[in-house]
Amino acid sequence: MRLKLFFMVLVAGICVLTGCPAQENTTKEETETAAKETPDFEQMAIDLWNEEFSHFGYWELIPGTAKHQESKGNPHGHYGSIYGNDITMDAINQQFEVMPDGAILLRENFNEEMEQLKITVMRKTEEKWFWAVYDFDGSVQTAGDLRKCQECHRQAEYDSLFVLSNME
Ligand code: HEC
Repeated sequence: MRLKLFFMVLVAGICVLTGCPAQENTTKEETETAAKETPDFEQMAIDLWNEEFSHFGYWELIPGTAKHQESKGNPHGHYGSIYGNDITMDAINQQFEVMPDGAILLRENFNEEMEQLKITVMRKTEEKWFWAVYDFDGSVQTAGDLRKCQECHRQAEYDSLFVLSNME
């Protein structure tokens, strides 16, 4: 019995001397740092919705487009309405060469029966587009640095934006 107790104390003593608890802390800190470095795209998309679209007043339609405009063969849906926020509108009016940070474009997508499909969003952040797809009720479908969106959109002449490029 006594011998067993002695060993337990010995193990605990070695642990304290060699810094077992310290080691545990390091691992925890490392995990937390790693988590911070990966941006939480879903949370960013939720915040974007809450800050910008939750009221659904929406902004103005992009100049030269119409509400529920027909766009055959569009991957997003047969009919669509494309809106921009104030920063986008200013940049269009002032003929900026690229969209500045904070610019947001949003396309409401409908199928041929005019049923709601998805809401696709692009927002300029740190000179890059952040992409997001929502249901009409605001739930996030996917968001982030989405390669699929980028690869198609980069064919658009003006800053990956089809609506502002003169494409046939
Ligand atoms: C295969 C090509 C393709 C892919 C993939 C694609 N798009 Fe588009 N997108 C288009 C086209 C074409 C338009 C123009 C639609 C119109 O004229 O109504 C467009 C329009 C938009 C618009 C309105 C601004 C603009 O460029 O005209 C937004 C916002 C948008 N897409 C977001 C997205 C997001 C987010 C994704 C990825 C989840 C995505 N798109 C994937 C082709 C694509």
